[in-house]
Parts: sequence; structure tokens; C-alpha cells
Amino acid sequence: MLKQEENELVTRVGPGTPMGDTMRRYWMPALLSTELPQPDSDPVRVRLLGEDLIAFRDSSGKPGLIQNNCPHRGASLFFGRNEESGLRCVYHGWKFDTEGNCVDMPNEPAESDFKHKVKATAYPTAEKAGVVWAYMGPAERQPPVPDLEWMRAPAGHAWVSKTYEACNWLQAMEGGLDTSHSSFLHRDLDTEGLANPRARSTAPRLEVLNTEYGYMYASIRHLPEDKQNFVRIYHYVMPFYQLRAGGSHKTLGNTDGHMWVPIDDVTCWTYNFHFSHEGAQAYDQWQYYEHRMGRGLAEDYIPGTYKLKANASNDYGLSRERQRTVNYTGIEGTNTQDFAVQESMGPIYDRTQEHLGSADTAIIQMRRLLLEAVRDVQDGRDPVGSQGQGSRVRPAQMYLPEDANWPETQLKEALVARY
Ligand code: FES
Ligand SMILES: [Fe+2]
Repeated sequence: MLKQEENELVTRVGPGTPMGDTMRRYWMPALLSTELPQPDSDPVRVRLLGEDLIAFRDSSGKPGLIQNNCPHRGASLFFGRNEESGLRCVYHGWKFDTEGNCVDMPNEPAESDFKHKVKATAYPTAEKAGVVWAYMGPAERQPPVPDLEWMRAPAGHAWVSKTYEACNWLQAMEGGLDTSHSSFLHRDLDTEGLANPRARSTAPRLEVLNTEYGYMYASIRHLPEDKQNFVRIYHYVMPFYQLRAGGSHKTLGNTDGHMWVPIDDVTCWTYNFHFSHEGAQAYDQWQYYEHRMGRGLAEDYIPGTYKLKANASNDYGLSRERQRTVNYTGIEGTNTQDFAVQESMGPIYDRTQEHLGSADTAIIQMRRLLLEAVRDVQDGRDPVGSQGQGSRVRPAQMYLPEDANWPETQLKEALVARY
């Protein structure tokens, strides 16, 4: 449970808010590289931390992220002409480069130097791992670009996608860090589903260990009939990354994860990434995987958007017959199941009303770290995880003997990045 003031503090990210100032000390995923497919391709609307921006790729291929409203009289630069290394407003022709400099002002006399006095807000960008990143904080505190292991994956080993979610970013992230729900929300009712350790052992013991990047946590599921435990180690890298072992409980050795990125206070992007440790995967395999997760394929989205067709307006495609016979929810797709419950809590859940148990330990600790990060920023320190911490870890999962203390087993070695 949070006090009302804490709930406000931790969820609101607009300019000038305490959490907004804190978020702006980290690089943010702004959009997918594929949304700006080539030099001079079409400008794209981006809303990030409650700010309306326009992304474009200039003639040299460099991504720019500039304020939506033209500094002249405010027309949206979305309508702009992207040409010769700059975005030109279609109202009176003012043109801006990726740094926000006004490089042409054709409706003023040629001898005027007015254009040198005008500057648009433009955020530094970086491109890495299929994502265009933006830094929206104070220039003198700009940190290194994130460098988690999946971002260094060789070509073809990693895949990244994004899906729109209609609720506050923290609510979405809490759903991702909450491990006990997978025993219920994502349960399949067939033989294989019921044999999954998550269905067989529904009350995992959680161990949370603070680290220099956030925390790592173990979910330990006891399987007494097998005389072993199923141990899954996750990493929470501040402020919004989760790394988890990918694939099914039978295929060890991949990294999956999310980034929960605030569009504004009431909507967010759920970025999904997968990293195949063993080798490159064909496009079809990624597509199959994404589809199974209930996202990512063109046919799963409303055309021209990253919004799922299965959404609140149609109860996420809920079938009561499917709920009786096929899976726990009656909803298809893991992410869609997550969205149904997370969005059903309302845009910003009133956390004064909740009742947290021991299964919510990871959520409680994450909120604590976020509140500490806000204090760090207010006191002039760099918040945890903003300086490239977490780049050497990977998640893992393993079956271990009942009496094994996981940090003393081979599981510990499996947690070290190899790329
Ligand atoms: S409003 Fe953009 S050039 Fe006038
Ligand atoms: Fe989930």
C-alpha cells in the first residue's frame, strides 16, 4: 500500500514533477528504428513523458527528436517536409536540423539574422539495438547510452517490438515484476500447461537482493514430488527494465524482457525484447513467438498503430468457452492477458486501496528504489542504474535440488553476460 502522496509521486512523470525529473536522468526508448526506415523518411509523432515531439531521420540517417509545435507560431512539425538535413515547417517554411537549430527562415529578409536567435527544443538521440533512444534531462548530466547484454547481441540474435498500453507505466511494470500471477493469469489448461512448474507450485518464495543497478530476485518454486525446486532469477534494472529467462521452462538459455516507457501519466509503451543466446533466429521464428505472446504481428495490431485489436473495447477477445476449456482467462496471448488485468485497474490505480502480501515483495522493493531515486535526484546525485550499471548480467532459470542454495550452484555462473 502507498500513501496517496507517494502514489502521485511515483506515477506522474510530466515535466517538472519529481518522478518526471528522475526519469529524465535516464535514456528513454523514443521509438523503434524501423519507424524511421530511411534517410528523409516520413516524420513520426512521438509522445514521451507527457511531451509531444516529432521524430525524423535526416539526410545523413541521423535521428532527430524535436518539439511538436514550430517555434514560429506553433504549427505541428508533423506536417513538415523532411528534406536536405532538416525538417521544414509547411506553414511558413522555417527549417530545423536534428539539434533544433533554425537553418532557414525563408519568410524573413535574406539579410535578417533572426534565425540565429531561434532554437527549437531537440533532445539528444542515439540509435542502438533497433531502438532510437532520447535523453531528455539536463545536458551537463547526460549519462552513457544503455548497454545491457541484449543490446550487444550479434545480428539476428535479438528482436525488439512495442505495444501500446492504456494505463500508467508503473502499473504495467508492476505486472511484469509480479511473478506469482503467471501461475494463474497465464495458465493453460492442457496437460502441458498443468505440468508447468508455475502451475504446479503457485506460491513461489521470493528472495530480493539489492544490486548496483536495482535488484535481482529469485522466484523459488518447490516441486516436492520431484524433490527439486524450479528457480528463476530476474533482474530489475532501474528505472524500467526487466530481464527474465526466456522460452518455456524446458528451454533454458534465452533472455526475454520488457521496458515500460511512459507516454504520459495514463498510457505507456510496453517494449518487448528477446535475445537468443545460442544463435540467430529467422524472421519467421520471431514472428511466431511474438504472435504466441499476443502482439507483434501485423495482423494483431489495428492497422497503422501499435495497438492490439484485442483491447478493452472488445474485452480483449474474451471467450467464456475458452475460459472453461482452454486457458485460465479465456483470453489469447500472454501480453493481451497482462493488458486486460493491468488496464482493468483504471488509468492510475489508487494504491491506498491495495493489500500486498509476501508474493508482492518485488513490487514493494521496486517502489522503494524509485522513491530513493527521486530523493537522489533532488539531492543532486545520479539515480541508481543511470550510469550503465547492469550491463554485465543476464537472467537464468534452472531446476535445482531442494536443499541447494542457488547462489552457490551453477545458476550463479549462468547469471553473467557472455556478449
Ligand atoms: S508556424 Fe512554422 S514556420 Fe510559421
Ligand atoms: Fe504476465
